[in-house]
Amino acid sequence: GAPFVATQNNDLYLEGVKLADLAHAHGTPLFVYSKAAMLSALAAYQRGFTGRNARICYAMKANSSLAVLQVFAQAGCGFDIVSGGELDRVIAAGGDASKVIFSGVGKTRAEMRKALDAGIACFNVESEAELEVLSDVAQSMGKRAPISIRVNPNVDAKTHPYISTGLKGNKFGVAHERALATYQRAASLPGLQVTGIDCHIGSQITESTPYLDAMDRVLDLVQAIEAAGIAIHHIDFGGGLGINYNGDTPPAADELWTQLLAKLDARGYGQRQLMIEPGRSLVGNAGVCLTEVLYLKPGEQKNFCIVDAAMNDLPRPAMYEAFHQIVPVSARVGEAVMYDVVGPVCESGDWLGRDRQLAVQSGDLLAVLSTGAYCVAMSSNYNTRGRAAEILVDGDKAHVIRRRETVADQMACESLVR
Ligand code: LLP
Repeated sequence: GAPFVATQNNDLYLEGVKLADLAHAHGTPLFVYSKAAMLSALAAYQRGFTGRNARICYAMKANSSLAVLQVFAQAGCGFDIVSGGELDRVIAAGGDASKVIFSGVGKTRAEMRKALDAGIACFNVESEAELEVLSDVAQSMGKRAPISIRVNPNVDAKTHPYISTGLKGNKFGVAHERALATYQRAASLPGLQVTGIDCHIGSQITESTPYLDAMDRVLDLVQAIEAAGIAIHHIDFGGGLGINYNGDTPPAADELWTQLLAKLDARGYGQRQLMIEPGRSLVGNAGVCLTEVLYLKPGEQKNFCIVDAAMNDLPRPAMYEAFHQIVPVSARVGEAVMYDVVGPVCESGDWLGRDRQLAVQSGDLLAVLSTGAYCVAMSSNYNTRGRAAEILVDGDKAHVIRRRETVADQMACESLVR
């Protein structure tokens, strides 16, 4: 799963940093990310696009911590945002608004204005109603909003139903059958400038076939739209490439794009500007979450290993029954016992791993792997638990990129009735 995580003399390291030392210095739960792992994941896409006109827009919803955005901004990436707040983060991290694309089914007028003011590259419009509103907002500012329409290719990404987005029953995108008519409407609206086409079929996709099918469907539309006299300057093919959580074998980014580019070339679209919106595949395997074992609680049916990280820190198991590997930070000798690894939150859904063989004692540290994507970004304060601290490792250096949230931080927005 995570090539930048390695064991030396029974101790777990991320790049050149011993994880036990970080946990002792900064406390737990603690998220630790490898900069080299992020850049190496990015490099796979960059290799795939060698000699092409392509922009990688990191889907920052996966991990929007400022220093993580900074890594991608410095590497020349654009960003795929889904809110006005994410645009503020891009700018705070030194990102370039002119490389930002704005996705999402529910953009508000205020968010549209903010993005137009900042001069973003493109709005990925998800409905006919949104087209009308965006045109109106842009016109009122004396501007034309650059748009692509997110089309729904109706292919099955064969992933978890909560993270599959390209099927007809989803709230996302415009149906394939409505796409041409929607483009014609867009082309007639005074506040809009059609620039591209967009699609995103789901997340944690581990096969090439859904992508290849979706590309065919999108290119069919490009052909039909251009035949109707509307130029499509860029093709945005979304994100969604999976990572290895538990023996998953998604195609490598460069191999996937070799196949997709062959298709684009064969159909005569190989020189179009390309955009992609990868999230998880850039950051997921770059992160680990360190947690301390609080109590071991043997039971008749189950043994519980109660740790200090919980569903508020790591919501993916509770939300999607997602699997994350859990390994000791410093291996100990002793017999492994089967545990459910659970957090302190008062919900049965608060588990991090089920039926795991672990040789542990209370006070030991565990690392939950592949937690760079959709963990801190989806974390909450449930049970008045402060958000975890975050560290970015770069070689043998460790930078604190988010201090641990205090209860005072949590209460700062609240007031008593006077
Ligand atoms: N573009 C759009 C329009 C999206 O909706 C998403 C993710 C992405 C790009 C990035 O997809 P990725 O490359 O990360 O698969 N919380 C879930 C995943 C939700 C994905 C939402 N959309 C999880 O933890 O598995």
